[in-house]
Amino acid sequence: MAGAPPDTPTGQWAGLRAILAIASNKGGVGKTTLATNLAIYLRALQEEQPVCVIGLDDQGVLDRMFSLRAAEVGDGNLKHGWAERSFDRVIRLGQYGVHYVPPPPDVALLKARAEDPKTLRRILARTEWSGIFLIDTKADLEALTRNAVHAADRVLVPVADWASLEEAAKIFRMLERDRLPIQRARVVFTLVDRRSRVDGGQPLYDAIQAEVARRDWPRYQTFISRSPRVETLNSASARPLSILHHARGTAVHGELRDLADEILRDLAAGEAGPPEAQDVLWGRSSGGRDGTRDVRGVLRRG
Ligand SMILES: Nc1ncnc2c1ncn2[C@@H]1O[C@H](COP(=O)(O)OP(=O)(O)OP(=O)(O)O)[C@@H](O)[C@H]1O
Ligand SMILES: [Mg+2]
Repeated sequence: MAGAPPDTPTGQWAGLRAILAIASNKGGVGKTTLATNLAIYLRALQEEQPVCVIGLDDQGVLDRMFSLRAAEVGDGNLKHGWAERSFDRVIRLGQYGVHYVPPPPDVALLKARAEDPKTLRRILARTEWSGIFLIDTKADLEALTRNAVHAADRVLVPVADWASLEEAAKIFRMLERDRLPIQRARVVFTLVDRRSRVDGGQPLYDAIQAEVARRDWPRYQTFISRSPRVETLNSASARPLSILHHARGTAVHGELRDLADEILRDLAAGEAGPPEAQDVLWGRSSGGRDGTRDVRGVLRRG
């Protein structure tokens, strides 16, 4: 899709306000890995860009990955923010300079307050904290996921194999049924293993890409490879570790950096977002900043 000229420093877009949701009904396609690590890369690419992760899942990954201190009595979480109709009291600064909304122990209770699919969009509109929101969803198509899809300027739909491609179709159908533009969705190919072949012939990744093109689904060009290193970072200790800080020099590091860059260019191009998003996309604008370029230099060298 059209974007800024390739040589424009991404730092120029510091100050974006945008909402990204990551959704697929298929479990284990990399939604949470993508949401948490993209937050870190988006933040690193533009050091003055605030980024906040919201998890509509109760697996506790956000707390484990981002919390800087043990929970205290009186700490607010997503459930409180939902009830207060603003996340301002519950957004917390976490590891790597990423903000996050601590998840409640059980998201099931929220579902009852999410029957109107526009609830989350309204809550985010009333939240004064400004920056990029990344919403990680559960592997379902229920009320909370639908709220995330309605709130989002971009819905990232991970596709890892044929099964997840069919599940992706359900997200596209949800957009159509709810009269939201499908141009708001972007397929992201995840867990890509270039050695996998269809019946020993065509590479699986090529076949899946061709099918996504045939269905005319918008996609990001950058894909994320399957990497044993990423698996280890997620599972070797109680606290999942950042790919940016712990997997420098791997293919996935470069891919996440490129994907974050592609997303920033896409958001800045501003096409196909909801009309109201266009008004708030540029919360504040700024020229390229030396500090931002420094971080980008470090990223490029990584
Ligand atoms: N690029 C990758 N390379 C290798 N393993 C990966 C990669 N991305 C994710 N994984 C692993 O795949 C599994 C599923 O990832 P993740 O939890 O991010 O998926 P999910 O879609 O959020 O799953 P769920 O539907 O259960 O929420 C995890 O074990 C994770 O460590
Ligand atoms: Mg998950």
